[in-house]
Amino acid sequence: MRILMVCLGNICRSPLADGLLRNKVSEKQLPWMVDSAGTAAYHIGNPPDHRMIQTAKSNGIDISELRARQFTSQDFTAFDRIYVMDQSNYNNVLRLASTNADRQKVYLLLDHLYPNKQLEVPDPYYGNQSDFDAVFTLVNEATEALITDLTNDK
Ligand code: 4NP
Repeated sequence: MRILMVCLGNICRSPLADGLLRNKVSEKQLPWMVDSAGTAAYHIGNPPDHRMIQTAKSNGIDISELRARQFTSQDFTAFDRIYVMDQSNYNNVLRLASTNADRQKVYLLLDHLYPNKQLEVPDPYYGNQSDFDAVFTLVNEATEALITDLTNDK
């Protein structure tokens, strides 16, 4: 399984989702590949936002080595599943899809935790520490639910 996490900047939500899923995949010794990207180009080459690095670190997850890159249409062939954080990311990713097979690879990350609710991981960029903590809790639960669902062959 090859999984790509996608948000807008690739410096807050998707690097956290990437780091959390990598950590769980490694603990469970699953033969999965995990990466992340942003739909925007603003932060290409940058490490994650220092507030998200710190929030992850205080929960035992190291995302400091990750570097932002932009989502490209080639990601549709490089990955089996593309998880977006919100509806805006979804629309931006779908704009680069060229086949129905591409489109069917794209899911909201929270679909595993809250099926059929179309819920979003809120962007914490303009928020405070409690917003970063809330995103950590949500993404931690969502990545756990993702592994449970996909390893049960759903
Ligand atoms: P992310 O958060 O999409 O979770 O990485 C953001 C980071 C940067 C910006 C917006 C959202 N920005 O506008 O620079």
